[in-house]
Amino acid sequence: MSEWVDVGTLDELRPGTVRVVDIHNEEVAVFNLDGEFFAIRNFCTHDGSPLVLPELDSADQIADGKITCPHHGAKFCIRTGAALSPPAYEDTPTFPVREINGIVQVRAISAWLLQGTEITPDT
Ligand code: FES
Repeated sequence: MSEWVDVGTLDELRPGTVRVVDIHNEEVAVFNLDGEFFAIRNFCTHDGSPLVLPELDSADQIADGKITCPHHGAKFCIRTGAALSPPAYEDTPTFPVREINGIVQVRAISAWLLQGTEITPDT
């Protein structure tokens, strides 16, 4: 079973920003990269720490479509969740994102969240 979850308005998710939301007790980081939205689990696969921390300016972590983990410097692709540099070697899961009438939504499937299995936007 899947559902689309509202995660913010276009005003709240302006280009260059990221917002961390809770979906089924998992933190999800939703990014606006130049008007395109992407969502990845807020989870560094190096040791399970969050990639985005509320106390840090996430603008310092994001460059060229990549986010740098604030803990030990691993990089992940924001578009695909791919682990791009050590010490992380496993990808972090991604979520389909859409915008309808000014509301940004993330699609979540509980089993996927628990198992970390990739899903397609039409699942
Ligand atoms: S926890 Fe992210 S690089 Fe170590």
